[in-house]
Amino acid sequence: MKPYHYKALVIEKSTPRVFSYHLSELPNRELSESEVLVRVHYSSLNYKDILSCQGNPAVTRRFPHTPGLDAGGVVERSNSSKFKAGDKVAVFCTPMGMNHSGGLAEYITVPEQWLVKVPDQISLMQVMVFGTAGYTSTLAVEEIIKHTPPGGSVLVTGASGGVGSISAILLNKLGFKVTASVSREQGEAFVKSFGIKDVIKTNSLLGKGSHNLLPQKWDAIVDVAGGEVLSALLKQVKEEGLVIATGLAAGTHFSSTVLPFILRGITLKGINAEGSSTEKKSDFLHKLASEWNCDELSTVYRLVQFKDVCEAIRAYESHQIFGRVVVNMEGNYYE
Ligand SMILES: NC(=O)c1ccc[n+]([C@@H]2O[C@H](COP(=O)([O-])OP(=O)(O)OC[C@H]3O[C@@H](n4cnc5c(N)ncnc54)[C@H](OP(=O)(O)O)[C@@H]3O)[C@@H](O)[C@H]2O)c1
Repeated sequence: MKPYHYKALVIEKSTPRVFSYHLSELPNRELSESEVLVRVHYSSLNYKDILSCQGNPAVTRRFPHTPGLDAGGVVERSNSSKFKAGDKVAVFCTPMGMNHSGGLAEYITVPEQWLVKVPDQISLMQVMVFGTAGYTSTLAVEEIIKHTPPGGSVLVTGASGGVGSISAILLNKLGFKVTASVSREQGEAFVKSFGIKDVIKTNSLLGKGSHNLLPQKWDAIVDVAGGEVLSALLKQVKEEGLVIATGLAAGTHFSSTVLPFILRGITLKGINAEGSSTEKKSDFLHKLASEWNCDELSTVYRLVQFKDVCEAIRAYESHQIFGRVVVNMEGNYYE
């Protein structure tokens, strides 16, 4: 393969622990066995990408580093019998972007097992509107469908973020009675813009005092917050209800008594989207192209050009982003 350079977002570490990110040029490398070279058309920003940009060692330990959990593009060159040049492919919910070079680059070189073929009926951009956050939502929604009666009441926390907004949209479309919780001032208007009428403030969920149980409110809950929010939610889910833990935006530690479990028979279920098989991801892409496709998804993201990605990351860091950020990797990067 001829040597060339491609553009990528690069996070640099300077001593002792100062991190900065900028667009840069990186040299290509030869493909190893079973590796595939993909020209990236769209990527996205996820919660962990921001942690990576901040040098969070729980996400990224090796610098310089290119973040980007998600990528959608076209195979340019392949050392895999499963993929050929011209195939439309996506990568999401893999180790890419954490300690492996990520999707915020013109090209990615990835092992074949990280790639999923994208059906003709959906665009690469639509796949990136979902990305890792949206795929996580679909796993939570599938659990709710299995466990909760049709039309049941479901609370979604962090509903102005990626996982929360897509969960709320899908659950609403599927006929569940959705309550969305938000903390930020403009969060309510954002959530209402995609058709959720019942919106509450997240801090209203935190029960006052030290009660072990609180009035029963929801059949199921999708929680992106964790921490003290999750501790409070366990006390408020209805008998035989389900709480899905997807995130830790409010903290990693939570506390509970056994009472909601033994007196109300509730279930607490965790989601690990990265553990999904390629087959499951492929099923998800087909669902996305058909029964889960809906107009509301077009209101849940903002599209930014790659040349502006640093600005978008700064906006994310200062809590000015609602929903998803899709990054267009095509076009002119430097003006
Ligand atoms: N389990 C998995 O496989 C998996 C996959 C993807 C993501 N995640 C996790 O899911 C979480 C959300 O990801 P995301 O993509 O939705 O991120 P995001 O788009 O940045 O949204 C995070 C949301 O959390 C809310 N939030 C922030 N601090 C909070 C607090 N202290 N209490 C309550 N809510 C708070 C924010 O909304 P308001 O400020 O309006 O409340 C925001 O809407 C992250 O922890 C991420 O690591 C897990």
